[in-house]
Amino acid sequence: MNTLSLFNLKGKTALITGSGSGIGFALAKGLAGAGAKIILNGRNETKLKVAKTKLEELGAAVSLLVFDVTHSETVKNTIENYERNVGPIDILVNNAGINIRGPFEDFNETDWKKVLDININGAMNVSQAVAPFMIQRKAGKIINICSMQSELGRPSVVPYAVSKGGIKMLTKALCAEWAKYNIQVNGIGPGYFETELTQPLKNDPEFDQWLRNRTPANRWGNPEELVGAAVFLASDAGNYVNGHILYVDGGLLASV
Ligand SMILES: NC(=O)c1ccc[n+]([C@@H]2O[C@H](COP(=O)([O-])OP(=O)(O)OC[C@H]3O[C@@H](n4cnc5c(N)ncnc54)[C@H](OP(=O)(O)O)[C@@H]3O)[C@@H](O)[C@H]2O)c1
Repeated sequence: MNTLSLFNLKGKTALITGSGSGIGFALAKGLAGAGAKIILNGRNETKLKVAKTKLEELGAAVSLLVFDVTHSETVKNTIENYERNVGPIDILVNNAGINIRGPFEDFNETDWKKVLDININGAMNVSQAVAPFMIQRKAGKIINICSMQSELGRPSVVPYAVSKGGIKMLTKALCAEWAKYNIQVNGIGPGYFETELTQPLKNDPEFDQWLRNRTPANRWGNPEELVGAAVFLASDAGNYVNGHILYVDGGLLASV
């Protein structure tokens, strides 16, 4: 018996949205390391081509699907075309996300809608596009990237927190609806990881110190530290894990 084979993703294809950089790229690399074929996604083709080359140099099989997750028709058509003409998408990681920070009393409607559109509607669009094929095959893994703000509020990130609370509930609600088709819908809730998204926070010495003090591990996370959780939830090792949010946060949520 080989327990590690439970985590093997050989023969599986994973689509990771927003994977040209940051956490998405780290997850793509990690899933490729477990044997999965990778589909990179984002809006910026140039950035994606660079990411593709980096993964191919490591021996990964990689293709690109360039689309904006908020464009529902494009998402649907692109995924349908991939499924019919290339092959199955076994694993979906809904990772694409943004944050627009600012005091809520001054927050404008356009930015509010933008955050919710990308962070929630984006995940909804891509999940809905892959679902008919996963349902037909009676197999599928969906991993939604949540956040500390799926559980905790914080000044200046109200729309982000609303979107990440929504993603947590999208995870649970889809589990309730699709578990009968052998689709596992889970979430990963990262603590604070150094990426483009968090660069303004990392560059602020006051925030940096506050975060270290607030996190039992006393440090920021490295995006590669999310890979174990992703492989677990994407693989047979997680076949009976459903509707769960796995927080990878250096202990932040466990402490006050
Ligand atoms: N970093 C953290 O500490 C942290 C903590 C908790 C949760 N998260 C979550 O983790 C996810 C990734 O964040 P990150 O820190 O890696 O940020 P990032 O480096 O800014 O990466 C975000 C990615 O999403 C893509 N993207 C944005 N809007 C998109 C759209 N409409 N359609 C398709 N792709 C889109 C971007 O690529 P293009 O610009 O090329 O489209 C980019 O590659 C987000 O959901 C974020 O909320 C991050």
